[in-house]
Amino acid sequence: MTTAPPRPDSPYQSYVYAYPHKTAYRPLPERPPLRELWAGEPQHALSLYLHIPFCEVRCGFCNLFTRIGSPEGLTTAYLDALERQAAAVRAALDDGARFALAAFGGGTPTYLTAGELERLCDIAERRMGADLRAVPLSVEASPATATADRLEVLAARGTTRLSLGVQSFDDAEARSAVRPQKRAEVEAALGRIRAAGFPVLNIDLIYGIDGQTEASWLRSLDTALAWRPEELYLYPLYVRPLTGLARRGEQESRSAWDTRRLALYRAGRDHLLAHGYQQVSMRMFRRAASPQAGAGEYACQTDGMVGLGCGARSYTSRLHYSFDYAVNATEVRGIIDDYVATEDFHRAEVGHWMGGAEPRRRHLVQSLLQAEGMPLADYRARFGGSPAEDFPAELARFAQRGWLAAGDPAFLRLSPEGLAHSDAVGPMLFSPGVRALMAAYEAK
Ligand SMILES: C[S@@+](CC[C@H](N)C(=O)[O-])C[C@H]1O[C@@H](n2cnc3c(N)ncnc32)[C@H](O)[C@@H]1O
Ligand code: SF4
Repeated sequence: MTTAPPRPDSPYQSYVYAYPHKTAYRPLPERPPLRELWAGEPQHALSLYLHIPFCEVRCGFCNLFTRIGSPEGLTTAYLDALERQAAAVRAALDDGARFALAAFGGGTPTYLTAGELERLCDIAERRMGADLRAVPLSVEASPATATADRLEVLAARGTTRLSLGVQSFDDAEARSAVRPQKRAEVEAALGRIRAAGFPVLNIDLIYGIDGQTEASWLRSLDTALAWRPEELYLYPLYVRPLTGLARRGEQESRSAWDTRRLALYRAGRDHLLAHGYQQVSMRMFRRAASPQAGAGEYACQTDGMVGLGCGARSYTSRLHYSFDYAVNATEVRGIIDDYVATEDFHRAEVGHWMGGAEPRRRHLVQSLLQAEGMPLADYRARFGGSPAEDFPAELARFAQRGWLAAGDPAFLRLSPEGLAHSDAVGPMLFSPGVRALMAAYEAK
């Protein structure tokens, strides 16, 4: 493993789950009022995201915005701040604003106690006006924090999808990824989750861990399959700056690691396809005929997102905004302490203006990386024209590498090899401006 930049031809450049990446956000000197940002935005099918930046441990691979533990009173103070922020954000939205989708993410939302989770749901419902029992609600959990009392609260409040971070069912691999957990604890957590009766269980697994072989990877997958999860996310391991694994240094040449990850991806994909799963994207697989706890009527390409909490982003059509971002423990603590002390949440502080062709690029990134591809009619209806007219150089490069599927003139779709190279395709669609901002960002 290594944290040096990926080789230019590596399939693993970066995971593009949102465009642009937070490292392209900058302080907004104008501090635009939220009321102005949301005025005139469609608000009939918003998404609500609440971020809980606490974990019991810091896993060696993780660069998410989170801290280990919370000193006395911090989670209460954090929920107090969330409540203040919710009030300010709700006041900036139209009276008729409606949420079509909700999610609690982290960090580890289930780091909160059962009572605190009740309060979190109350904030979403009473402060924001989200009807959690009527819309899809997804919650992330770790095995140790997926306790019966917390799961009971989450089920009663309307959680439709419980996503458990497992990473590996092999104790030696978990140790190697610096993920302190035992398989027996993970299986016990899965038992509690199934007993709580959520419509959708998702399991996160990671491939490319030191010491992981195709045989051990398939064993982990089979252990997961025994729980018949409605969804599985298979993540290629990334070792990012300032994480525990990065400090441990290089264990394997970069080209060997790339080759191993690609082989494990193919083995995992084929295994799940053979077991009745459909591929939704490079990482996501859904069991055939399982309920969709996903977006519902919310369309991630066009509809707005309201994020609450100091690691959450919010999207309007013109601005993506958030708070400051860090990985280093001291920096993260400082940002959470600042958040908790904030009284005035009426303005956006850090973000990226979506000018020029950026909305087109974002639409393309978000649609093309889905296995079903992008309906060209949707693009034309939204922007006029076509991706071939707007991004000829990028599409020519994909075609040259064999990453585009032929055959259906109504869709722009990746070929199976294109999908396998999603983490190279996405970054190739970044604008020069976003690229420059990301390159200039200093990890902290
Ligand atoms: C918020 S966590 C999931 C919930 C919970 N905190 C846990 O770890 O159990 C999001 C997921 O992203 C994946 N992930 C995070 N960092 C990663 C990395 N560097 N490489 C690969 N996958 C990663 C992991 O599978 C993890 O479960
Ligand atoms: S992987 Fe999950 S539990 Fe581990 S540090 Fe990241 S957010 Fe926390």
